[in-house]
Amino acid sequence: MSIEQTLTDEERLAQLDLDQLRQLVGLVEYDESADPFPVSGWDALVWIVGNAVQAAHFFQSAFGMELAAYSGPETGNRDSHAFVLRSGAARFVVTGAYDPASRLADHHRAHGDGIADIALTVPDVDRCIAHARAQGATVVTEPHDVSDEHGTVRLATVAAYGDTVHTLVDRSAYTGPYLPGYVARSSTLQRRPGAPERLFQAVDHVVGNVELGAMDTWVDFYNRVMGFTNMAEFIGDDIATDYSALMSKVVANGNHRVKFPLNEPAVGRKKSQIDEYLEFYGGPGAQHVALATNDVVGTVDAMRAEGVEFLATPDSYYSDPELRARIGEVRVPIEELQARGILVDRDEDGYLLQIFTKPTGDRPTVFFELIERHGSLGFGKGNFKALFEAIEREQEKRGNF
Ligand SMILES: [Fe+2]
Repeated sequence: MSIEQTLTDEERLAQLDLDQLRQLVGLVEYDESADPFPVSGWDALVWIVGNAVQAAHFFQSAFGMELAAYSGPETGNRDSHAFVLRSGAARFVVTGAYDPASRLADHHRAHGDGIADIALTVPDVDRCIAHARAQGATVVTEPHDVSDEHGTVRLATVAAYGDTVHTLVDRSAYTGPYLPGYVARSSTLQRRPGAPERLFQAVDHVVGNVELGAMDTWVDFYNRVMGFTNMAEFIGDDIATDYSALMSKVVANGNHRVKFPLNEPAVGRKKSQIDEYLEFYGGPGAQHVALATNDVVGTVDAMRAEGVEFLATPDSYYSDPELRARIGEVRVPIEELQARGILVDRDEDGYLLQIFTKPTGDRPTVFFELIERHGSLGFGKGNFKALFEAIEREQEKRGNF
């Protein structure tokens, strides 16, 4: 398989190469012809928010994203505002209703700000839908074409956990800025002198929170319907604190660009962080988006300077001799990591650096992770206890623990 065939258009535009993607997101080669539901990668994370104008500003100013396209009343959209934002290969679409009768308004009333659609790029929408239907998946929207002067996009949508869906997108015959109905638009925000060109290069994984007892159902869904394979499994003590616990399994598409950890609450002495999410999101949904960066220190500094708040890590985490022995040598001096609260984990393949934001909306639901991988294909299992204790401190402040 040649590099041209393996890279997505977005990755090429972002001047990423295969070696960078292997390191950034753990990309692997695989034989697509044997896959009943081939997925090439992420198309977009489509958010429904209470104020798309301000969410678009936040993602530009605080996350360093570039505005790429727009849809709204000026473009004939009588329902909503939508802004398309890019950072490297990552694409977010933030949508907000101004018609109270819009289904977007219903979604927002039920869930608050959240990811409604984890859209995936596929080479053959019809083949995927035929397989999904045969496996009993709910097809929300049948395969159909949308066209404008830039060409044609083929789309279809399948239901996933809660009200979350996966739109399958084949934009191979389309050259427009996003989809028909959108016009190209660029940022008016002035970048600060010396600011990095971008703060992250790609989406690494999106975590789904589902109800107690539903995790295996959704692992089975991604295995059977979408041909994903199981990457790792974390159960019980690995991710339990003294009070609350969760169970998690991870599925990934063939080339590992798309990774979905799926969490369910486990019975603990207090309310699990997953229970808090399910209560405030009003059911299952996307919990966090991990953004791949090749310089987590620079990214944290830039985001923090713009007011993004991260979970605090206690100094004891860094002085723990067990941790020091386990992680060995990493790219950044441990004092630099400690100053920023960046966590480290190592496994047999390498290490990773990671840090988590506080929830970025009004509800204690969706948040972000920054992840810098150096060989490790894990998810920071060794940090789960420290991370969950940090989350529980925040839960307690909110009166939800
Ligand atoms: Fe994560």
